[in-house]
Amino acid sequence: MKKITIGFAMCGSFCTLSRAIDEMQKLKDTGYDILPIMSFNVFNLDTKFGKANDFIERVEHISKKSIIHNIVGAEPIGPKELADIMLVAPCSGNTLAKFCNGITDTPVTMAIKSQLRIKRPVVIALASNDALGISAQNLGKALNNKNIFFVPMSQDDPEKKPNSLVAHFDMIPQTIDFALKNKQIQPILR
Ligand SMILES: Cc1cc2nc3c(=O)[nH]c(=O)nc-3n(C[C@H](O)[C@H](O)[C@H](O)COP(=O)(O)O)c2cc1C
Repeated sequence: MKKITIGFAMCGSFCTLSRAIDEMQKLKDTGYDILPIMSFNVFNLDTKFGKANDFIERVEHISKKSIIHNIVGAEPIGPKELADIMLVAPCSGNTLAKFCNGITDTPVTMAIKSQLRIKRPVVIALASNDALGISAQNLGKALNNKNIFFVPMSQDDPEKKPNSLVAHFDMIPQTIDFALKNKQIQPILR
C-alpha cells in the first residue's frame, strides 16, 4: 500500500523547532513519508536555540530527503500532488499572517498555497507570542478556512506572555488523523 506523504513545513519559531522535529521522527517511525520544507529563516539562521546546519542535518537524516528551501522547489507540491497533507510545525505568527493575507514569498507560504490550490488539507501547529494580540485576526481568518486544521493549543505562560499560544506538538499525530478525514480535532483550545 502506498504510504501517506506529509509535507512537513518548518518556520522560525526557533524555541519550538526541536520539539517539532521530535514529532517528525515519530511520524516517520509510524510509517509516514516526510517531505521536508523550511522557511528561508529556518534554513539560514543560527540562533540561541541551535545552528541551521544542525537542524538541516537532523531533518534530512529523519526524512531521507533533501529539504525544499526555496519557492521554486515548493511550487510543484500541489500540481504534482507531492503531499497528501501539509503540516506547518512550528508555524510562526509571521507565516500565519502571510498566508492568511495572500502573501506567498517564502518556501512555506508557497507550499501552503500550492497545497490549498488542490484542496488538500493543511494542518497548523502555531507557536506565536502574539496569537491573542495582533495575530488574533489572522488566526480567525485561518480558522474560517475549510481546508485548514489546527493542532490544539494553549496559553503557555498566561502571566508573563498573555498573548502567547503554543500548539501541543504531541497532538500532531491525532490532528493529522482527523484532518485526513476532513475533520478538526476538538477541543482546539485546551
Ligand atoms: C530566537 C528567535 C525565536 C523566535 N521565536 C518565535 C516564535 O516562537 N514564534 C514566532 O511566531 N516567531 C518567532 N520568532 C520570529 C520569527 O523567526 C520571525 O518572525 C521570522 O520572520 C519568521 O519567518 P518565517 O515565518 O518565514 O520562518 C523568533 C525569532 C528568533 C530570532
